[in-house]
Amino acid sequence: MSEEFALLEPADQPGDEWEALDVSDTEADRIARRQDREFDEFRKRIKDTEQFKLQESVFDDATLAAVYKLVQDGYVDAFGGPVSTGKEASVFEALGGQAGERPAPGTAVDADGDGHPDREVAVKVYRINSSNFRQMRDYLEGDPRFEGIANDKKAVVLAWTKKEFANLERARKAGVRVPEPIAVQRNVLVMELVGHADDRARRLNEVDVENPETAYEVVREYMRRLYRAGLIHGDLSEYNMIIHDGELVVIDMGQAVTVHHPNAGEFLARDCENVATFFTRQGIDIDPDELQEYVTEPEPSDEAGTD
Ligand SMILES: Nc1ncnc2c1ncn2[C@@H]1O[C@H](COP(=O)(O)OP(=O)(O)O)[C@@H](O)[C@H]1O
Ligand SMILES: [Mg+2]
Repeated sequence: MSEEFALLEPADQPGDEWEALDVSDTEADRIARRQDREFDEFRKRIKDTEQFKLQESVFDDATLAAVYKLVQDGYVDAFGGPVSTGKEASVFEALGGQAGERPAPGTAVDADGDGHPDREVAVKVYRINSSNFRQMRDYLEGDPRFEGIANDKKAVVLAWTKKEFANLERARKAGVRVPEPIAVQRNVLVMELVGHADDRARRLNEVDVENPETAYEVVREYMRRLYRAGLIHGDLSEYNMIIHDGELVVIDMGQAVTVHHPNAGEFLARDCENVATFFTRQGIDIDPDELQEYVTEPEPSDEAGTD
């Protein structure tokens, strides 16, 4: 692993208002209900592929309709294999479509010769029948963005997917290196693939951290930036940070809550504990309380130092 952990410069500060997130019936639900010949063909085609056979439980009809919509809208061109299969979600690699904006640096190849640069994307598909539904609801309940969310599985999982998209966006604006969110449709999230299909990015727990001090400083700074942007990751550990090309990337932001959440303090303390434990094992002595103090230190006010 490279020892350079370049910090991103923070972009303009996010506003104070949370964006309202609409979780009403989606276009994908309508497509799934409608008798749509093209969708039927798409469904037949997908159901024949290897990944579908392996991941059948993830792709119910409405989820397939969401994928179909993402293909139609130009965010996904082709599905690759699974990267990870978890309790709440499966992650696949895929070829991004033309609507997915510019290619990431170093990925401007055009293997399919369609005149557009190929860009690999990660597609995270949340299970509607997630076993952790109740726990998900607890995270949503104290979040002002989801006031009054319906108490059914589907609505919760759809809100969760949108929340991950919004959290990634917010983190990115705050200067935290996360996968760039590209599109969200129902329970399916499309984002930048960190690494490549043939050169998978490794989780922090899978690599030999050559320079733990620098890595720790980057994590600490990202935690502080996130906190100052009003967010707490809530599941931060060596399993939700990946390393690629000397960059440390924070992932898995579905559960991240705002600092106003009733359990925000508890989540932050746990994140600090996890991070301190990991880096202490790497040979640097870290006190979780000191880390938490660093993260929550008030931002120097604008007046200070301007004269
Ligand atoms: N954007 C991404 N780029 C590359 N790999 C990813 C990306 N997102 C997720 N992964 C891989 O998939 C795994 C699971 O993703 P994660 O978001 O942590 O979901 P889970 O809720 O299942 O833990 C990660 O540990 C990582 O290996
Ligand atoms: Mg994870």
